[in-house]
Amino acid sequence: MTAPFRTPIVAGNWKMNLDHAKGVALAAAVAGRRADAAGVELVLCPPSVYLVPVVAATNAAGGDVAVGAQNAHDKESGAYTGELSPQMLTDVGCRYVILGHSERRTLFGETDAAVNAKAKAALAAGLTPIVCVGETLEEREAGRTDAVVTAQIQGSLAGLGPDGLARTVIAYEPVWAIGTGRVATPEQAQEVHALIRSLLPALSSAEVAAKVRIQYGGSVKPDNAAHLAACPDIDGALVGGASLKADDFLAIAAAFSTGGCC
Ligand code: PGA
Repeated sequence: MTAPFRTPIVAGNWKMNLDHAKGVALAAAVAGRRADAAGVELVLCPPSVYLVPVVAATNAAGGDVAVGAQNAHDKESGAYTGELSPQMLTDVGCRYVILGHSERRTLFGETDAAVNAKAKAALAAGLTPIVCVGETLEEREAGRTDAVVTAQIQGSLAGLGPDGLARTVIAYEPVWAIGTGRVATPEQAQEVHALIRSLLPALSSAEVAAKVRIQYGGSVKPDNAAHLAACPDIDGALVGGASLKADDFLAIAAAFSTGGCC
């Protein structure tokens, strides 16, 4: 169970799914039943063209459900065709941004250095970055999980400083568990979460390390969320497929609200 001084955070990564009407309806449904997950921070991350109507839908229901983007550039403005700056995201009411998702790392070539630059820019613009790390199946089977995740954490979070790191959310998403239905066991997830937390004092301080929220992501569903939520270093979830249905997303969030079970 998440330590009492860390507020659990459950975010829905809609990826390139839904349309305008369905996105607004999903946001309204989640925001309208927000009380199902009392005490849990909820974040919806729609495709960027739907950020404005999704912010409007969550605001209409009280504004207690935050909205995040799935990516951002590291510059404030300029000749970067097709990109969005962190300042543009805050301008339309976004409070979070997912950075370094494995799909961006593998399909769009994002490196730890690029993720690091984006995280710094997001923090400077007042956004909360959700920085994703995680090993591939090949890396896990070769016994390289710790080395891979360590390099990603150190590279992606370098130089954020204690204040920046304290505001950052980390998502551990083993690549082999994303969209595959193959969830990490609570033991596997907790082991890597504890490793990640053990790396944070060197990047900040012991006090900050204890406060940073670390989400698990990868095939989180209503029927496995409670066991994950029961782990001491798992402070929430980054949910893909199951975030496209209000019932499933809220059931996952509710598991973190009650602290899970074994
Ligand atoms: P999934 O995706 O829940 O569909 O596995 C998680 C993610 O990619 O963030």
